[in-house]
Order: sequence, then C-alpha cells, then structure tokens
Amino acid sequence: MPDPDPFTQLRAWLEEARAVVGEPQVMTLATATAEGKPSARVVLLRDLDERGLTFFTNRTSRKGDELRANPRAAIALHWWELGRQVRVEGSVEEISLEESAAYWATRQRGSQIAAWASPQSRPLTDRAALDARVTETEERFDGQGVPLPPFWGGYRLIPESIELWTHRDDRLHDRVRYTREDGGWRSERLAP
Ligand SMILES: Cc1cc2nc3c(=O)[nH]c(=O)nc-3n(C[C@H](O)[C@H](O)[C@H](O)COP(=O)(O)O)c2cc1C
Repeated sequence: MPDPDPFTQLRAWLEEARAVVGEPQVMTLATATAEGKPSARVVLLRDLDERGLTFFTNRTSRKGDELRANPRAAIALHWWELGRQVRVEGSVEEISLEESAAYWATRQRGSQIAAWASPQSRPLTDRAALDARVTETEERFDGQGVPLPPFWGGYRLIPESIELWTHRDDRLHDRVRYTREDGGWRSERLAP
C-alpha cells in the first residue's frame, strides 16, 4: 500500500519520474465552462506542496476564462517508463501576486516577452501578426526588465481526490484513491 499521505507518495513518484522521464511535469489539465462543457490541454506542473499543484498561464486564455467561471479542474499525469498514472480533482485558486512574481523572475526573457505579446487563445490573422506583436513588445521593454503582466500568473489545484495508478500485468492494475475527509485522507482501492 502506498504512503497514507498522497502528497508524500506523489512527491516520491515525481522524484522517481525525474530520474527516468524527460519532462515528468507534463500534465493534462481539464477545465469546463459554467455549463459543464469540458476542454483539456497540456500544461507544466511547476510546484507541488501540501496546498496543491501549481501551474502558470495567461488568465485571459480559454482555460483562464473557464476557471474564472467554474473554478474546478482535473489533472492527469502519465509516466510510461514507470507504468504510473496520477489523477487529481479539486477546486482551483489563483496563487498570490508575490508567488507569481517570484516564478516570473525565474523565466527566460524570451518567455516573458512571449507572455506579453501573445493574446493566448485568441484568433490571430496570421503568424506575421504574432511576430509584429513580439517586435513591439521587445521595443517597449528595451533596456529594462520585463514586468509581470497583470493578465498572467499561477493557479493552484487544491485536491479533493488523488488517484495513484500503477501498471500491472494482464490489465490488473493497482488503483488507490485518496479522498479528503475530516482534515485528513481516506484511501481505498478501486477495481482496474
Ligand atoms: C509540453 C507542453 C507544455 C505546455 N505548458 C504550458 C504551460 O505551462 N502553460 C500554458 O499556459 N500553456 C502550456 N502549454 C500550451 C497549452 O497546451 C495550450 O496550448 C495553451 O495554454 C492554450 O490553452 P487554452 O486555449 O485552453 O487556454 C503547453 C503545451 C505543451 C505541449
């Protein structure tokens, strides 16, 4: 049986994945509109602590719009080399400005310029329109640091349930689901 604390177990799994997987923090994030129409895309897991799983994005993107209207999400990670899958479901909150700024400061200048220049998820007439926006942004911040855009930052998925899935022969996989209960975690096995 894995650790009774799913965060402890998940951190151990991530460490093991770092040793064998190129980009272990690649995760699929599912959000939904207020009406429940779902959408999914890949983002990077940037932080994991007792509070939850943090990723960064443009708050005016499609996912940002959906999270504003419906602050719930699901995440799936899969590490083929380890035969492991992680599923997390819960509510989503914006992380603090200070936390977003701290992460922003670690980003390459090119990524910072791109975040300002790209109206993420909005239609573009053509590639040249994006290139022009990048050039404008470079000129705007020429010779100075690139500040954190007011429309960009981190979100934290606060887990209500975490499932750890392990590959076993003949499709008889191991599934353990943790559910928050009375300030702790209840775990149970699920049929594969
Ligand atoms: C490997 C990989 C990592 C990505 N990481 C991020 C990320 O951390 N943040 C982000 O906003 N988009 C990331 N993207 C791009 C998203 O998949 C997506 O195209 C973008 O966020 C727009 O999604 P939306 O229109 O649903 O908001 C990543 C894509 C890939 C393939």
